[in-house]
Amino acid sequence: MYKEALIPENISLVEEPQLDLFNPDKFSESDSNMLLNIVNEYYTSFEKTSPIKVINKSQFNTPVNFKQAKTIPIHRWYTYKEGFSPLFVNQFIKRYKTADENIVFDPFGGIGTTAVEAALLGFTAYSNDVNPLSNFIANVKADIYNKQDLGDLEKEKERITKYCFYRKNNPPENETVGNYFTKTTLDSVLKIQSYIDTIQNEKIRSLIFIALLTILESISTHRKDGNGVKIKKNFKGDFNVNQIVGLLTAQIELFIYDIKNKTIQTKPIISYQSSFEKYSLPQKADIVITSPPYANCFDYSKVYLVELWFGGFFKNKQDQKKFREASVISHVHYKWGLRHQDFGHRLVNNEIYDYLNDLNLWDKKIPMMLVGYFNDMGKVLYELSENLNQGATVGFVVGNSVYGGVPIATDILLAEIAMKLGFKLLGIESYRTLTPSSQQMRIIREQDKKFLRESLVILKWK
Ligand SMILES: C[S@@+](CC[C@H](N)C(=O)[O-])C[C@H]1O[C@@H](n2cnc3c(N)ncnc32)[C@H](O)[C@@H]1O
Repeated sequence: MYKEALIPENISLVEEPQLDLFNPDKFSESDSNMLLNIVNEYYTSFEKTSPIKVINKSQFNTPVNFKQAKTIPIHRWYTYKEGFSPLFVNQFIKRYKTADENIVFDPFGGIGTTAVEAALLGFTAYSNDVNPLSNFIANVKADIYNKQDLGDLEKEKERITKYCFYRKNNPPENETVGNYFTKTTLDSVLKIQSYIDTIQNEKIRSLIFIALLTILESISTHRKDGNGVKIKKNFKGDFNVNQIVGLLTAQIELFIYDIKNKTIQTKPIISYQSSFEKYSLPQKADIVITSPPYANCFDYSKVYLVELWFGGFFKNKQDQKKFREASVISHVHYKWGLRHQDFGHRLVNNEIYDYLNDLNLWDKKIPMMLVGYFNDMGKVLYELSENLNQGATVGFVVGNSVYGGVPIATDILLAEIAMKLGFKLLGIESYRTLTPSSQQMRIIREQDKKFLRESLVILKWK
């Protein structure tokens, strides 16, 4: 057993859900089926009282699907693979809004899909994140651009095509990211960066900087792939300054078009804030729609390494460490201790931890990662509850996972943690079935596959 789940004394809990199937005699470490049966029975029993609603077809396919966002004004300014479908956010807000004055909040705001969509619908919106890159992008997307700004943007678009690029910036102090570009391309990028630094209007400087960040992957010798980057096959990677300026101006034209055609009346507040720490929103929220990192070993500081270093968001290794420390535990690239008293789930802390700890998993830290993940998520829910108005609706989009053949039904476990803290469960909607890695696919039992899904947990604050 990892340790007994212990919630701080000053927090009042509602009665535990009546789903307790634990019987120590049932579980013997030598019998893996016994553990898998306990987990399966546990989830099945939950689903009997709270059936999972399967959504077969929706206009956005699945909530975390950025494909559609790439065609929608403002949302298309930067691609965040883990970003929400704006249509999903739009529909969730309309489904649960109780008044035009409702406050919308996303505690894992990313590049601001929720905040921007809520603001476009006319709501006051707040967003927290600990990724300096995504916060920067969210801020630029959420900004208000007046006629003067638009004029400045148009002038910069002209100036860059005639600019004489003789100066260049220093490369980032991370050799690896420099190696993701050919020498010619790197040289061109650093020259363009030095031009961007000369732009007087800060809002326009940030916009053009995002245009550069947006095209970095297309001119790099590597592409994002799973939890990192992979070399592109047969890629002719040399881009001179003029070629990159061409890509950049196309992006700027898109920005001009979107700014002219869509306006935000009230700028959402985007905060650099960890959602498992104490915080106070300027006004309590009525609608929360969010998607935290999944417990799938995905490390944002690795996947966005190029943008984080080229953007100057990471200047040294300490910055990367700080980002990982402030993030919900969802991968194994860092050694965390338990940072707060345990808000986690005892099925994970006890049976699942014990079982996985005895298996020879590809990384020894996985069992502890899972304990830490639910502990962090419980703390997030607690801090969130302190920032909610009575009757607020909260939607968490989560992806379930599987380790050592054990299904980790994050949706059920999170719902139970929330119910313990006083939230009412309105329901769980499953949007798609998840396919695990081929190795997990071989070992997961047929009867456990149904728990592998991406779903929306809908909660109400009392
Ligand atoms: C799945 S993404 C959310 C994307 C977002 N829905 C969007 O459309 O852009 C999860 C986000 O949670 C952020 N995150 C991780 N730990 C956090 C924490 N402790 N507090 C706030 N944000 C955190 C990550 O940086 C990441 O941007």
